[in-house]
Amino acid sequence: MSAAVPGKARDIYIVGLRNQHAVENQAIELLERQIGRLKNYPEMEARMRQHVEESRAQARRLEDLLARHDTSHSGLKDTMMSLVGNLAALGHTPAPDEVLKNTMANFAFEHYEIASYKSLLTLADLAGEGGARAALQTSLREEEQMAAWIAEHIGPTVRRYVERSASGQTAGV
Ligand SMILES: [Fe+2]
Repeated sequence: MSAAVPGKARDIYIVGLRNQHAVENQAIELLERQIGRLKNYPEMEARMRQHVEESRAQARRLEDLLARHDTSHSGLKDTMMSLVGNLAALGHTPAPDEVLKNTMANFAFEHYEIASYKSLLTLADLAGEGGARAALQTSLREEEQMAAWIAEHIGPTVRRYVERSASGQTAGV
């Protein structure tokens, strides 16, 4: 491994921490827009409330990791990435099948986050930042658990949506 790798990895790692901080803020917005609307999917709403709290803790973990690299939090400029922005925008679009579109967007979003934390773990290793592992692993596990929860609830959500639609009830939220 070239001697320049740890320094370069550190730069890329810090950018990755900042980007994931922006993604967490997007996650919080995306979930908050859905909470309070899902009166016919209360278990999904409850899981989202839990994940908003987890996402806030994840953002704080990233702030703590950034603080180790004299990147002051106030100087953090969160830039929205286009993929994440597009996913988040799905939550804005009024659609009769809102719950289905949001479920798919949430599932995609969680997988983006899983990939991001896995990348950050590799970058931390390459940069010699082994002390960051535990915090990144905690967040990664939370994202994996959220993704698994959504995966289990895709089928039941589609069934409920179709049944409610078939009986002329509000189905999309
Ligand atoms: Fe997250």
